Amino acid sequence: MKGIILAGGTGSRLFPATLATSKQLLPVYDKPMIYYPLSVLMAGGIRDILVISSPADLPAFRRLLGDGTRLGLRISYAEQDRPRGLADAFRVGRDFIGGDPVALILGDNMFHGEGLGQMLARAITLASKGAVVFPYRVANPQHYGVVELDEQFHAVGIEEKPEHPKSNWAVTGLYFYDNQVVELAAGLKPSKRGELEITDLNNLYIAKGQLFAMPLSRGFAWMDAGTEEALLQASQYVAAIEARQGLKIACIEEEAWRMGFIDTDQLAVLGQSLAASAYGQYLLALAQRHKNIRN
Ligand code: TTP
Repeated sequence: MKGIILAGGTGSRLFPATLATSKQLLPVYDKPMIYYPLSVLMAGGIRDILVISSPADLPAFRRLLGDGTRLGLRISYAEQDRPRGLADAFRVGRDFIGGDPVALILGDNMFHGEGLGQMLARAITLASKGAVVFPYRVANPQHYGVVELDEQFHAVGIEEKPEHPKSNWAVTGLYFYDNQVVELAAGLKPSKRGELEITDLNNLYIAKGQLFAMPLSRGFAWMDAGTEEALLQASQYVAAIEARQGLKIACIEEEAWRMGFIDTDQLAVLGQSLAASAYGQYLLALAQRHKNIRN
């Protein structure tokens, strides 16, 4: 399974904060926003990852994440010359995907909850037979793609930002697809608002009876950080949990270590390179604690 992080867009709802930088590079509390979706793919065991962004912002993502070797990943990059819509990820990423199944996550989406890794493992299995989406109950479904579910939680249809939503289930920014997605995305036409819609793609899977919905329970937190209010709330959420538990959310170095992509010595080296920050000290303490247990 390959993974794509879509981290382009204009971020116009955050102007002027995003005039000179990408939204997905803004901090959510103590780390860049893109760490959150990256850590989700890693929790699913996905190590071959494509970051898509605008020509202007791509160099900054490269500076931040490099080729991924230090995290035991393979990270590559591709340009989206303008925001053509979410389904454009599968056109831009065509060569990267090759003949494999693929997960797409939006660069401004955050998922946090118990059992994420197991859920992703189940999704990877299901995606061998079609597509998987992760609906989440929201108070304001008009702002999202809304999925209608039958009693067995099968997807009946998805509507993009409906005036009169048929349910409160928003489609979140994480999607798993089998390899058909490449051809299906190639055949899409832009919508009335001029975008290649992921909702159109998902409805093609529904028509084939191949779209599976895995609703996220209320114990999960799902956030996007697209407005100043949402960005602040996301930061406050992360700050509150991290202070309470003394554990970090979306710490990609820790995730790489817990997943066995890097060993404890490599974790310590990564911590050393960031030692001036509390984040770096956290990594060093983690490596030290583990060494003490071992010795
Ligand atoms: P949006 O929040 O819909 O768009 P945006 O980020 O451009 O922000 P705004 O509406 O304030 O102008 O995008 C959702 C995510 O998908 C976000 O992480 C950006 C990314 N994206 C792309 O990378 N390319 C695209 O063509 C689109 C539409 C979005």
